Amino acid sequence: MKIGIIGSGIVGKTLAVGFVSNGHQVVIGTRTHGKLAEWLATAGPNVVEGSFADAAEAGEVIIISVNAENLASAIEAAGRDALDGKIVIDVSNPMDFSQGIPPRFTATVGDSLGERVQRLLPRSSVVKAFNSMGFSVMTEPMFNGEAGTHFIAGNDDAAKSVVSNLLEEFGWEVLDVGGIEQAFFLEALASLWVNYSFRSGQREQAFKLLTR
Ligand SMILES: NC(=O)c1ccc[n+]([C@@H]2O[C@H](COP(=O)([O-])OP(=O)(O)OC[C@H]3O[C@@H](n4cnc5c(N)ncnc54)[C@H](OP(=O)(O)O)[C@@H]3O)[C@@H](O)[C@H]2O)c1
Repeated sequence: MKIGIIGSGIVGKTLAVGFVSNGHQVVIGTRTHGKLAEWLATAGPNVVEGSFADAAEAGEVIIISVNAENLASAIEAAGRDALDGKIVIDVSNPMDFSQGIPPRFTATVGDSLGERVQRLLPRSSVVKAFNSMGFSVMTEPMFNGEAGTHFIAGNDDAAKSVVSNLLEEFGWEVLDVGGIEQAFFLEALASLWVNYSFRSGQREQAFKLLTR
């Protein structure tokens, strides 16, 4: 698939490398042309740099990987028209680190970041994914032979099916928890991941749902 990534921080770059290793083509969008030159040289020919608008235009699936406070401006720069009708993966978490650690959780029920992105993009199919684990686990979900559980949420079943396939290629066990209103709980889960990570000093961790 053609995947557009808006934002070239650690999450954007990690996902770009992961998708390319699974045979996809990536346009990674940055506000600063040329910034990624050194990294691109190691990422291989199937990742190219562009603007946020280039990434939105090129991708069949778009990932928005900017911090919560920049979601609206990044979407503006990408262009809503280019995102119309597309699958948009929101990875963002409502964490305010300005007062130190642990970060303050800033979402409220009914106003999660996933819901905000869906409201900003009413004609796109927003799927919350890649948010409830640290970047180093996103594309490497195996723990001693056992797959972590990747929770996703969104209103469009067809879009969630496409996203599930992308996640399963990495080896995740995928669990669809429902509509985009469930993003609040996935964002809270991310805070649990982060808070426990600071407490334990452990980043190589993922959630696993057991059933019987
Ligand atoms: N880090 C993790 O382990 C992790 C795990 C789960 C979820 N997340 C979520 O993933 C998202 C990205 O996290 P990250 O760690 O990759 O952050 P990051 O390294 O700080 O990168 C964020 C990117 O946002 C873009 N950006 C910065 N200021 C902007 C502005 N004013 N307007 C528009 N875009 C701007 C920048 O892209 P350019 O420089 O390319 O323009 C920057 O590289 C966040 O929402 C975070 O909550 C992070």
